Amino acid sequence: MRPESAVDDADKVCALFRRRFSAKPAVVASAPGRVNLIGEHTDYNGGEVLPIAIERRTWVAVGVATRGSSEAISANETESGAWEAHEPHRTGKWWDYVSGVAAELSLRGWELPPLQIAVVSDVPAGAGLSSSAALEVAAATAFGALAGVPLSATEAALVGHRAETEFVGVACGIMDQFASALGSTGMALHLWCDSGRYEHVSMKDAVLIFDTAVPRSLRTAAFNGRRQECDAALAILRGHFPTLQNLAAATPEQVAVAALPAGLDRRARHVAEETRRVGSAVVALRATGTLPGSLLYESHESLRLLYECSSPELDWFVESASASVGVTGARLTGAGWGGCGIALGDATALAEAAPAIAAKYEARFGRRPRTWITHAAAGVRLHENLT
Ligand code: GLA
Repeated sequence: MRPESAVDDADKVCALFRRRFSAKPAVVASAPGRVNLIGEHTDYNGGEVLPIAIERRTWVAVGVATRGSSEAISANETESGAWEAHEPHRTGKWWDYVSGVAAELSLRGWELPPLQIAVVSDVPAGAGLSSSAALEVAAATAFGALAGVPLSATEAALVGHRAETEFVGVACGIMDQFASALGSTGMALHLWCDSGRYEHVSMKDAVLIFDTAVPRSLRTAAFNGRRQECDAALAILRGHFPTLQNLAAATPEQVAVAALPAGLDRRARHVAEETRRVGSAVVALRATGTLPGSLLYESHESLRLLYECSSPELDWFVESASASVGVTGARLTGAGWGGCGIALGDATALAEAAPAIAAKYEARFGRRPRTWITHAAAGVRLHENLT
C-alpha cells in the first residue's frame, strides 16, 4: 500500500464535491479500513481484540445544502442517494452508512441541516476490510465538525457502530469502528470490548493482506447464526457460573465443566481460548515488537475447527503463506467465510512472497486474489485547509 500522506485523496474528494455541488466543502474527514491481527469473534462476546488500521482510507467531504433533502455521491458508486434530513430511512444502498450516521445523531437530539456529501475511497468494498466502518467513522467525524460539536474518536466509533447495528442492521461487534477511529501509525490497538478500554502497542511487522475474492453472500447469515450460538452457550454457562460477565470471560476450564452441546462447546472454547491468545500476543508484542506466528496459526486452527468459519481458500492461503520465506505467521482475518487472510513478516519478504502465492491461488481456485502490503496506520482525521 502507498504511504499515508494521501494529499491526493483530499484533493479528489474536494474536487468531486465541487463538481457536484458547485461549492467548496465545509469539512473533510477521512478514516481507514482495518485488519484484525488476532482476537476473532471475541468482540461481540465481550473479549479482547488486536486490530490495526490499514493504509487505505475513505474520505468524506460535507457541506450544508441551502434547502431540500440531504444528498450523497461517491466516486466509487454509480448511484447517488437522497433522503429527508430529519427522517433518513434504510434503503439497502451504500449511503445507508452515511444516512445511518445522520439518523443516529438525530436520535441523540442533534438537528443536522440538509447535507451535501461526497465520498472517495480506496478501501476495497466487500473484502472484509471494514469499508463500511471507515465510511461511518469518517461521516460521523465530518458531521460533528460541521455541526460545531466535534466528536472524539471514541464517540465517532460508537456513533458509527450504532449506525451499523441499528440502522443498517448488521449485528457486528465494536472492533471495526474502534480500529478505524483509534488506529495509530506503527501501533496495534489492544481493545477490551466489554468496557471500550484500549491501549496502543508498538508493532514492527508488515502485514500482507490477501483477498480470497470469494463472494460474501453467506457471511451475514452465518455470522448472525454464530452470535446466537454464543448467546445460547453463555446462557447455559451462567446456569453453572451465575456471575459470568460474558462468554469471553469464561475460562476454558469453566467451558469444560458446563458440558455444553457439541456445537456450542466448540464455539465457547474458541471464544475463551482466543481472547486469552490476545493477552499473550500483547505481552509478546510489547517485549519484541512482533507477533509470535504460533499464536496466529493457533488462532486460525481454532477458527477452522472450533468456530468453523474458515474456507478452503483461506486454509490454502494460510498453508501456502506459512511455507513462504520471511512469513512469520498467517491466519484468516475478520468474520471469515471468505474475505481476507493476513500474513505477517518483513515488508520486503512479504512483497516477494505475494505474487507467487497469488499466482498459485489463481491456478488452484480460478479466482484472482488481490494483495496489499500495509503497516499499522493512522485512524480517523479531520482535514484543514481545504482546496
Ligand atoms: C466482523 C465484525 C466484527 C467482528 C469480526 C470477527 O468483521 O464486523 O465486529 O465480530 O467479524 O472477529
